Amino acid sequence: MDLHLDPSSGLPAYRQLAAALAGEIRAGRLAVGARLPSERDMAESLKLSRTTVTAAFRELESQGLVRGHVGRGTVVLAQDLAASPDGLPWRQRASRLATPPDTRGPRPAEGADLIAFADGWLHPELHPRAQIAEALAAAQQDMSGLLAPAPILGLPILREGLARMLGARGVEVRPDEILVTGGAQQGLNVVARALISPGDAVLVESPTWHGAIRAFRAAGAEAAGVPMDREGVDPDALEDALIRLRPKLVYLIPSFHCPTGRVMGLERRRQVLALCAKFRTPVLESDVYGDIAIDGPRPPSLKSLDTAGLVIHQGSASKTVGSSLRIGWLAAPPGAMELLAAAKANLDLSSPTLPQAVLAEFLQAGALSGHLARFTAALRRRRDAMAQALARDCPALTFQAPEGGLYIWARLPPQASAADLQARAAALGLSIRAGDVFFPEGGQDRHIRLCFAAPHADRIAEGVARLGRALDEAMGAGGPAASGAGYAAV
Ligand SMILES: Cc1ncc(COP(=O)(O)O)c(C=O)c1O
Repeated sequence: MDLHLDPSSGLPAYRQLAAALAGEIRAGRLAVGARLPSERDMAESLKLSRTTVTAAFRELESQGLVRGHVGRGTVVLAQDLAASPDGLPWRQRASRLATPPDTRGPRPAEGADLIAFADGWLHPELHPRAQIAEALAAAQQDMSGLLAPAPILGLPILREGLARMLGARGVEVRPDEILVTGGAQQGLNVVARALISPGDAVLVESPTWHGAIRAFRAAGAEAAGVPMDREGVDPDALEDALIRLRPKLVYLIPSFHCPTGRVMGLERRRQVLALCAKFRTPVLESDVYGDIAIDGPRPPSLKSLDTAGLVIHQGSASKTVGSSLRIGWLAAPPGAMELLAAAKANLDLSSPTLPQAVLAEFLQAGALSGHLARFTAALRRRRDAMAQALARDCPALTFQAPEGGLYIWARLPPQASAADLQARAAALGLSIRAGDVFFPEGGQDRHIRLCFAAPHADRIAEGVARLGRALDEAMGAGGPAASGAGYAAV
């Protein structure tokens, strides 16, 4: 925070401080839910009397922007009450568990010239459009089926197709051990509602998919990060956290992890399963990227190695067939399935039948394997184009090109901040994702995540050139960022 008070301004210091803090809040640099430094720390760091800081906090409180809580300090309540067009100060009424509004920094304006590296969408050219159209035509043949009451677990023909698909991947489950969800994101919320009570701990890799952190927090859980190495979650740190925190769940993305792209090795998978079995802790395995094996065979899922009945397996059509279908699934042991089905019914009764029928027809027509072959070949070209452009135009970044998945996770040099780079890139018409959101412990990070599936293939080089310009700016005026190329060849 940049809080400069001007002794010559004639305004009392507490008023100036309150105005400066209100400015930070309105600009979003102090987000709703953020805690202000303690009065004592602020008085010390600004060389002001404690009374001045107390008066400034009171002033902000009287404006409704912050509230002091005994034991929790002073928390930002609302961004700008005066400017609220909604009548009520809604943010003050937010549930304690509500997901905070998006504070991920400036986003480039949507437009023809925007190049999107930030999010994990598939560019339209990557969708199996012709086969989806055929599946849609086939699904329409059975209008009575589409309009019949939808079972909570999902359409039987889809669950049969998914059970066959999972079986071919070494995951032996019956159709009634599969629950269809509204994308994998709803699956996370279903599991959270079914297994987590407020105050429980959930272990997650650090970093991890930020949507999972949000889903667990919305259920009142503490999402505790466990560090990773090149092979995934660190087993010693995992064991330590299992002992200390007695978590209700361990959430892992072992194959082509988001955001890092890493793959957990086979031995590590066995070790992690053995640890979770020892502490009788369920594992939610996200395998949403497992089919996107660009360079080699698909890694075996944890579920296929699970002999203790610990693993709830999660998949999604979003990252391979199309995210607008909003179809994901959970495969779970029968005892867990009862709880998951009840939580799903509570959320939305059941998923819409039309997208389910389309995916079922797509699977039944045998369209998936041909699509995956073409899809991963196209992703290989995109990944290589991005990696080569990064080595050329952003030599200050360090990264390992991933063997699968949709993202390159790149580390910035020490003098650059990811949030600042994201803002500078946005100003140049490029969206990137600063790494901060993926860390459950919060704070600033020096990574960025770049999706090579979302932009038009022909725009990847131009996007990286923009990133290079933003990076040069972020590292100080003039001159390209120095230091050796960080591109580790695949
Ligand atoms: C690990 C992980 N899980 C879930 C999701 C959300 O998937 P869906 O579109 O199926 O809800 C994402 C999206 O990026 C993800 O990375």
